[in-house]
Amino acid sequence: MKKAVRYFSKLGNTRTIAEAIAEGAGVTAVSITDAPQLTEYVDILYLGGAPYANIMAPELKTYAENLDASKVGKVVLFTTSNWSKRTVLSLKKLLRKKGFTVEDEYFYAHMLHIQGRIDAAHAFGKRNGLNN
Ligand SMILES: Cc1cc2nc3c(=O)[nH]c(=O)nc-3n(C[C@H](O)[C@H](O)[C@H](O)COP(=O)(O)O)c2cc1C
Repeated sequence: MKKAVRYFSKLGNTRTIAEAIAEGAGVTAVSITDAPQLTEYVDILYLGGAPYANIMAPELKTYAENLDASKVGKVVLFTTSNWSKRTVLSLKKLLRKKGFTVEDEYFYAHMLHIQGRIDAAHAFGKRNGLNN
């Protein structure tokens, strides 16, 4: 099963979670600001970001808008925030509209409990679907 992890992080919280998911998945987490495009097909694309003043970063929105659905089996989302789940909910809507399969379940870590969520993020990256 081929996987990739892409994220946008201003302050480092989402990057920390992305790196833990990537370690579980056996890949390297890549910031969308470094190497945005997927060069080959992946079965699972983990995609994450955070809200800033109640909306996701424009960089992440643009990235999602330009993603190529033919290169992705399904998208699995993750986010960090103070309270809002808006980033994943907006991404889910945007990507489904573009024809992507997006898993309903997503990974959430509160910004004050990032370190305490590392093991769970690692396990989240390891699994291939809802039941394994
Ligand atoms: C300018 C700014 C605005 C934020 N606005 C929100 C918000 O509207 N809702 C929320 O739940 N968290 C908000 N947060 C908290 C961030 O989403 C949270 O710290 C997140 O973990 C940051 O991710 P990052 O470290 O990957 O950049 C805000 C943080 C900053 C710095």
